[in-house]
Amino acid sequence: MPSPVEQIKDRLGIAEVVGAYIKLEKAGANLKACCPFHNEKTPSFFVSPSRQSYHCFGCDRGGDIFSFVQEIEGVDFRGALKILADRAGVTLDPIDTQQESEKATLFRIIESATEFFVNCLKQNKMAMSYLVDRGLNVKTISEFRLGYVPLEWDNLVKHLSASGFDQSLSAKAGLILPSPKTGRFYDRFRGRIIFPIFDSAGRPVAFSGRLFDPNNNRTKEAKYINSPQTPLYDKSSILYGFDRAKTDIRKKDAAILVEGQMDLVLSHQAGFANTVAVSGTALTYHHLNLIKRLSDKLIMAFDSDLAGLAASQRAVDEALSLGMEVRAAELPDGQDPADLILKQPENWARAIDDSVHIINFYLNALKSKYSDRRLLTTEIRKEVLPYISKLLHKTDQAHFVMAVAEAVGITDEAVWEDLKNINQPQLDTIEDKTTDNQIKTRQMMIEDRLWGILFWLDEKSTQPDSLTKLIASLKDILSNDEFDQQQKTKQSDRQNLILSAELAYDGSTSLDQEIDDLLMALKEEKLKNHLKQVILELRQAESKGHNEMIDKCLKKCQDISQEINRLKQANNAQEKNNQQKN
Ligand code: CTP
Ligand code: MN
Repeated sequence: MPSPVEQIKDRLGIAEVVGAYIKLEKAGANLKACCPFHNEKTPSFFVSPSRQSYHCFGCDRGGDIFSFVQEIEGVDFRGALKILADRAGVTLDPIDTQQESEKATLFRIIESATEFFVNCLKQNKMAMSYLVDRGLNVKTISEFRLGYVPLEWDNLVKHLSASGFDQSLSAKAGLILPSPKTGRFYDRFRGRIIFPIFDSAGRPVAFSGRLFDPNNNRTKEAKYINSPQTPLYDKSSILYGFDRAKTDIRKKDAAILVEGQMDLVLSHQAGFANTVAVSGTALTYHHLNLIKRLSDKLIMAFDSDLAGLAASQRAVDEALSLGMEVRAAELPDGQDPADLILKQPENWARAIDDSVHIINFYLNALKSKYSDRRLLTTEIRKEVLPYISKLLHKTDQAHFVMAVAEAVGITDEAVWEDLKNINQPQLDTIEDKTTDNQIKTRQMMIEDRLWGILFWLDEKSTQPDSLTKLIASLKDILSNDEFDQQQKTKQSDRQNLILSAELAYDGSTSLDQEIDDLLMALKEEKLKNHLKQVILELRQAESKGHNEMIDKCLKKCQDISQEINRLKQANNAQEKNNQQKN
């Protein structure tokens, strides 16, 4: 019997899986698209049906259907397995509870707690009617698995122990805490309405509890308390409602961003399934990136006053510099989406329909606040121009420069002048962030290329001479040890490296030449890195006043520099030679 992974791969093709998330275009035998994992305007993301893999030349990500789903859904391997198994109609074995990982136990603890809270809600008429009074219907309450926990100290402690869970793990899941005095465990959430927070695969990973205080005597307690950061719950990368909003965000090509849990649940109930919420943390780059993979349009629901806006400034900045279109939905004074939807759902629909580009929103807000032309100009310069400077596209900038010029009655040119004096966003810092910590050195990139060619030639076995020569040269440049070591690590990325080589060189008539160039570049890069190393040693020697060491380092620096120069000269000669041949 083939494994679930094999069964899934048999049933689902890479083009089908990737194509469900992004629009693919034909490119010969392969398919291409703008990469969903980093910002780009021209496609460098390729999908190969014959290899059942994908590769992006821009950010160097690649892999199979599982790694794609992991990356795009922000889930771990098991999460991807679950999603793809569902889609392929493959049943997964129930996990072996003896050997499961700690994370898997934490998932089961949270799931068990979720069921417990749901049951408590069913048994408490007051809590249930509170939710109904806030406008929620029974279907929504059950879909979002809303719950309740009574006020006693240890309801959940008892339930989890009775279910056989270890207390230290329940604490690790963020649900119970030891009392500092007695060391006995008590519940984190007490007398609260419970909102389970789901990961993007729809599994509960944390909770947010809203104070439920019918007698009005817990006025000192926070209205909301949330699970702490746990191995399952990374606040900076989980958005409340994202699991249920994904499909709709893609379909409607826009995401609505609200602040609170109630806002989110009611917005979904009102038919806006493309809504997500930050729920108690600041909006991060990771949150935005989750959304951006599905759509470039972000509609933020704001209080109509400027103070409310100021709080979201960083999020807006970040979204604009990611090239997203940020719109603001204006709400009536003092009302949040939940209030609005409870009274008149149509008004929420109208606020979304009437949402305006964030820059227009600012312009309008300032225009109605300042009637004095000079004051208005100063404020716009201070508050609005920085946003315009964050816009990724020049054409968008031009559009808003005109709007500003019109609003304050000056020429476009004057506004452009002002704009020039504002620090422009550094495109490359954005690119850096999208590749997270995986920024590769040039040497690593060249090595990857060469290993890709090596594996590819090995697989094709049509050019045995080229392969033998490549292996010999690589061993020569890297040394035997390093060659063996790299061979082991690169092996794990074999399919991805092959695809990247194949896309770059398939049908090329000058592969041997390309290989020579890469080898030459690798040699040079290794020398340069060595030089950097020696210069560091030299600095250290200098700071210690170690004269003998200084001389030694200087000599080494000279030697390496000479070698780099020789290599460059050889390189130039070679290039001339090639040009004459062609
Ligand atoms: N919040 C929080 N901790 C608090 C208060 C608020 O995490 N002590 C978060 C919650 O996600 C909350 C959001 O900030 O939903 C907005 O807070 P607030 O406007 O005070 O609450 P509402 O969303 O209006 O809550 P409700 O409608 O249930 O009264
Ligand atoms: Mn509210």
